Amino acid sequence: MSRLFALAMLAALVAAGEPMHAAEPVRSLSAAEPAAPARAPVPAGSTRAAEPTISWSWQSVAPGTDPGKAGFERACAVCHGEGPDRPGTSSLQIKYADKLPALLEQRTDLTPEFVRYYIRNGFAMMPRFRKSELSDAEVEAIARYLSRKR
Ligand code: HEC
Repeated sequence: MSRLFALAMLAALVAAGEPMHAAEPVRSLSAAEPAAPARAPVPAGSTRAAEPTISWSWQSVAPGTDPGKAGFERACAVCHGEGPDRPGTSSLQIKYADKLPALLEQRTDLTPEFVRYYIRNGFAMMPRFRKSELSDAEVEAIARYLSRKR
């Protein structure tokens, strides 16, 4: 009896779902869609040209900035910076509540090993960074920068 009921429910769900799928517009890959630019123009005074591409994060950093801070701005601030829409910061806000700062730059407990591990391995939605995106020297500089208050 209960199995029959479950089957009926399933059939009802499938039936209810059907028209929605049918109504979905068919998305065509038309030639009219503009192609993404290969690379955004490099602003004057930026050190970007010398750095490898991280496709989703291109923050320009003033020349002379501490290399750890510069690397952080370039590769991490898009998610771990201040302000809204920073998934790293908001995730850590939830994870630690008020026990630890949500901003990595304000943490006083981070060790270089811990930071290095996260950069090379990633976690959840945080991508891992390949050596072609962040060199060992850059990872080292970021790890030192984030553990400087310890
Ligand atoms: C695409 C977004 C994104 C980018 C880019 C990103 N992170 Fe993350 N990061 C996250 C998320 C999300 C978490 C997981 C937070 C959690 O545990 O809920 C996280 C976690 C971490 C943690 C663990 C902190 C803790 O106490 O649990 C460290 C360390 C870290 N990131 C460092 C970095 C560094 C350094 C960079 C730049 C090289 C970076 N992240 C780039 C999204 C990102």
